[in-house]
Amino acid sequence: MTQQQTPIVISGFGLWNPEYSISNEELVSAYNAYANNFNQHHAAEIEQGSVNAKPLSSAEFITKASGIKNRYVYRKEGALDPERMRPYIEPRENSELSHQAEMAVNAARKALSAAHCEAADIDAVIVACSYTQRAYPAIAIEVQHELGISGFGFDMLVACSSATFSLQRAYEMVKAGTATRVLVISPELTSPQNNWRDRDSHFIFGDVAVATVVESADSCRSDESYEILGSKAATLFSNNIRSNFGYLSYTDDSDPFGEDKFFIQNGRKVFKEVCPMAAEHITSQLKDLGIDNSEVKRWWLHQANINMNLLIAKKLLGREASAEEAPIVLDQYANTASAGSLIAFNLHREGLESGDLGVICSFGAGYSIGSLVIRKR
Ligand SMILES: CC(C)(COP(=O)(O)OP(=O)(O)OC[C@H]1O[C@@H](n2cnc3c(N)ncnc32)[C@H](O)[C@@H]1OP(=O)(O)O)[C@@H](O)C(=O)NCCC(=O)NCCS
Repeated sequence: MTQQQTPIVISGFGLWNPEYSISNEELVSAYNAYANNFNQHHAAEIEQGSVNAKPLSSAEFITKASGIKNRYVYRKEGALDPERMRPYIEPRENSELSHQAEMAVNAARKALSAAHCEAADIDAVIVACSYTQRAYPAIAIEVQHELGISGFGFDMLVACSSATFSLQRAYEMVKAGTATRVLVISPELTSPQNNWRDRDSHFIFGDVAVATVVESADSCRSDESYEILGSKAATLFSNNIRSNFGYLSYTDDSDPFGEDKFFIQNGRKVFKEVCPMAAEHITSQLKDLGIDNSEVKRWWLHQANINMNLLIAKKLLGREASAEEAPIVLDQYANTASAGSLIAFNLHREGLESGDLGVICSFGAGYSIGSLVIRKR
């Protein structure tokens, strides 16, 4: 007789917002001032055709094309200065807590409290996001140290799917018995990778941190927990979303902060290719679990573009999804890389009852798609 495996659960979750935010109007006004200055300064070259004029941005376009109205930013200073066009994040001494570890700790404390856990109850920390501010020591080990957690920690980078892929690793670790309680944190500090001088992409990203506790149902003390019924990861190489920033720039003499080093994408292709992939990925995962798409009460989808979410939800349900079924947080948060689906999960669990099913799914750069099917306990 096969032994029944104890369920693995999400027992705590936390969301931390930076104190600053930037509306589309503020963003566009700064960008347009920069573009006008640039065009004035280069009027002669633009006239001769040797320099391209900077096109102006528009708040209405941004909202219509992406659903974004606002974004939180870790630091606002500098980002809206037409002479600078990038945030100023003050350097810290090695003896101080790093910026990203601070963001991570802020979200982690909330998740621990929701799980009714102390730091001592955790034995593994994964920091998973689209960039870490340094290669080593791992931000996860710094967080582990700051919170007083024993065991081990490591960082993992899977761009937009970092958070879901790391939840899958946590699930597998608890299942295999290599960890008892895992703290998974995504401190997405995306504003430094944004090309604030590029009209086509300057509006896309925002900063945030989310954290989740994964453990066995046996040890769970939380008032609200979700059994992980299954997880599925998929990757398919694509150059349509890319960031070339990296330490090799030093050796090839290129500008480490050149335009090609920022987030760059072919947004239209991403849209076309990723939407069907995500819908098929989720549908086949649910099918394998013996669940029909219509049985899922809540879809916490990746938050990159509202039109992508509407299309994917429609493919999944065969009809438009309501705002309650497939919540959108893009308007307030913008694209927060891997954190988006978990922000939606943190903010929109209202009305769910014991036994209700939900899907957390990320899709984006790589390409990468990560999904978890969960059931409220
Ligand atoms: C980026 C994105 C919002 C752009 O929307 P879009 O409708 O595809 O817009 P396009 O880039 O085709 O641009 C449409 C027009 O608006 C213009 N435009 C672009 N940015 C603009 C801005 N900020 N203000 C005003 N106009 C703008 C374009 O130049 C283009 O003009 P043209 O028709 O004269 O050439 C959209 O493609 C997208 O979100 N794609 C997926 C993104 C994604 O998931 N990324 C993953 C990152 S992790």
